[in-house]
Amino acid sequence: MVSRKGSGDMNQNTKRILRIQVNGRWREDAVADNQLLLDYLREQLYLTGTKRGCDGGECGACTVLVDGRPRLACCTFAVAVEGCHVETIESQSQDGRLSPLQQAFHEKLGAQCGFCTPGMVMAAEGLLRRNPHPTEAEIREALGGNLCRCTGYVKIVESVQAACGAEKNADEKMEERA
Ligand code: FES
Ligand code: FES
Repeated sequence: MVSRKGSGDMNQNTKRILRIQVNGRWREDAVADNQLLLDYLREQLYLTGTKRGCDGGECGACTVLVDGRPRLACCTFAVAVEGCHVETIESQSQDGRLSPLQQAFHEKLGAQCGFCTPGMVMAAEGLLRRNPHPTEAEIREALGGNLCRCTGYVKIVESVQAACGAEKNADEKMEERA
């Protein structure tokens, strides 16, 4: 008779080849059936920008994009995104230059300790791709699953607004009214 422990070990050792695109590059890797996308990214690909916060779907620190949509990597099996394009925070900067969103977080003080920032930026990136000019309410809704202990969220919302030009538009409207 197989013990529960033995059965669990056997499942852990069951591996398959995962074909997946990560940050624009196709790859094939052996992964366990029960391997989380978060562990695959951090421990197998060393993409440690994706953070492990609560490890239970509560904080959003592990947010990545899967085919352009935000997804929690701590609640997703790697094999579940077979054939998909996964984008992590490492995909944001190009040639050593921050993306507009990252630059805005930097300039608007949207990051303090920075632990939540990769998840915030990826959630915001997902929003701006489907809605390039979101309202403040839409930004807050899109980031509603991402927790931050430091900023009080105002600076984060302002960062996203700055990245999409909403802040500029608001300034222009103020000037028009004056
Ligand atoms: S680590 Fe994934 S939601 Fe917190
Ligand atoms: S900046 Fe520290 S948790 Fe958000």
